Amino acid sequence: MHKTDFEDLKTLVENRIGQILRDDQNKRIENRLTPIVRRNHLDSISALITQVTREPEGTLADDVIDAITTRETFFFRDESPFNALADKVFPALTQTRDKTRPLRVWSCAASTGQEPYSIAITADQILRRHWDGDLDILGTDVSKYAVEKAKQGAYSQIDVQRTVPARIMVRYFEKNKTRWQLQRSIRNQVRFRQFNLLDNFSTLGEFDVIFCRNVLSQLTDEKRADVVARLTQQLAPDGILVVGTLETLIGLDTPFKAVERARGFYTLADPNEVVPEIALDKATAGRRR
Ligand SMILES: C[S@@+](CC[C@H](N)C(=O)[O-])C[C@H]1O[C@@H](n2cnc3c(N)ncnc32)[C@H](O)[C@@H]1O
Repeated sequence: MHKTDFEDLKTLVENRIGQILRDDQNKRIENRLTPIVRRNHLDSISALITQVTREPEGTLADDVIDAITTRETFFFRDESPFNALADKVFPALTQTRDKTRPLRVWSCAASTGQEPYSIAITADQILRRHWDGDLDILGTDVSKYAVEKAKQGAYSQIDVQRTVPARIMVRYFEKNKTRWQLQRSIRNQVRFRQFNLLDNFSTLGEFDVIFCRNVLSQLTDEKRADVVARLTQQLAPDGILVVGTLETLIGLDTPFKAVERARGFYTLADPNEVVPEIALDKATAGRRR
């Protein structure tokens, strides 16, 4: 793609979803945008960018975002966050929460749904023993394609076999022709909607746990700082923010405190009170397999 078109696209993407495109992505992105140009009978990528700049919230803009976003995700990604949720966070919340309101979890860059469904399965295994209140899991993503796929809750053999332990697969998935369909009870546990992290969060309400994994690292420094600052407003005072295991809030001016030995877990309160003696040693890793 011509350098000036790529510069225009960079500005558009940064303004719309807060991501930086690198110059070495030019060819790959051109390959992804070309089918959109053809499908919409446009003359060129330049014409596509002009149209999307004019209408940054339109369906063409959604197609461009779908083509650009990196949506890699797996069930139980990195395993340890789900072990910590099961062993420490959910049990601690059941002690401190009032059952008159639901426990609320937000997966704010949910991609095609594997993360919030992993949370729902973890909750089903742990909470039903300790919690008879409601559970509300919200999965959001800026990609329209990802949200539509997440709502279906149907995955390929590779998606499922890759990281879902056999006993979870047998218990929570049903084979439907070539796809593995998540059981209705788990699908019903998660609400999905398209939502941009650059938009105002205040209509979403307060959450006990927020998963914001493997998206902060894709944002510009300015947008990352802004998103984290606004997440503090949506998290319960003793709630937990979970970022990717290779991500960190170090270097950002935030009131979040890291939970010791639970990589990627942060809280606004005293970590030792919120998640007492969180222990993520080798003994728990792999326990779900
Ligand atoms: C690499 S995936 C991470 C998925 C999941 N959280 C995980 O860790 O497996 C990143 C997701 O962030 C979404 N994303 C990127 N920018 C976003 C934004 N501004 N608002 C909401 N979602 C965004 C992308 O569409 C993509 O699905």
